[in-house]
Amino acid sequence: MEERNAWNQVYLEYGENVPWATEPELNRWYIQTLSKYLTAPKNKTLLDYGCGLGQVAEHFRQIGYQIELADLSEVVVKKLNEKYQNKVPVYLVKTPNDISKENAYDVILAIGVFHHLNPDNWASFLNDFYKLLKKDGIVFVAGWDKADKEIRNVQKSLFTHLSRWSVNDLPKYVNQGQFEIMADDTAEIKYNSLSFLRTMHYFVLKKKYEEVK
Ligand SMILES: C[S@@+](CC[C@H](N)C(=O)[O-])C[C@H]1O[C@@H](n2cnc3c(N)ncnc32)[C@H](O)[C@@H]1O
Repeated sequence: MEERNAWNQVYLEYGENVPWATEPELNRWYIQTLSKYLTAPKNKTLLDYGCGLGQVAEHFRQIGYQIELADLSEVVVKKLNEKYQNKVPVYLVKTPNDISKENAYDVILAIGVFHHLNPDNWASFLNDFYKLLKKDGIVFVAGWDKADKEIRNVQKSLFTHLSRWSVNDLPKYVNQGQFEIMADDTAEIKYNSLSFLRTMHYFVLKKKYEEVK
């Protein structure tokens, strides 16, 4: 599978040094922003979908969340299984539907994932998240805004499609019967490796318990 191989290649090449896992401001911002929407961790379950090295979820594990991880890349899944010695469930997935659970999570993170997926798949991913979430559960989706300078500079690479779509369009794919959009906003973030600020776009979607048809 082309995407899986491409992501495997990225993680084989960069190891622990993938840029998104090693930018301190970026990870601080995720944690700070998420903390506004999360409740006390006791008995709370968090799925990090498209987790990469899992550094965001690891923070929440350390403060008491029960975390589960999922990614497309076998390289990442193997690395995480070695790290957690099977104490944290780690799923090798292509879609969230590969996790055969229902009403299982209080929080689902999809950080830096949607802008890598063709929008044709967004509605179906959100529908899968809806099934996976518990009552009052939330999904946090974050990705580079279409105004982000770095994305606009990207020409030819695995990430070429980033210049064609961005998470800005997510609301078009949100089933209003399933989710309330609690946040749809941008933030400027300092990337150590760049001289300019980057622009992040994020959404918080809250599950409507009874699906409104
Ligand atoms: C830019 S990285 C972000 C990783 C992590 N969320 C973070 O913020 O550090 C995107 C991740 O999404 C994963 N991914 C891409 N397509 C996916 C899919 N269809 N299902 C699950 N994960 C996917 C990639 O393997 C990669 O680890």
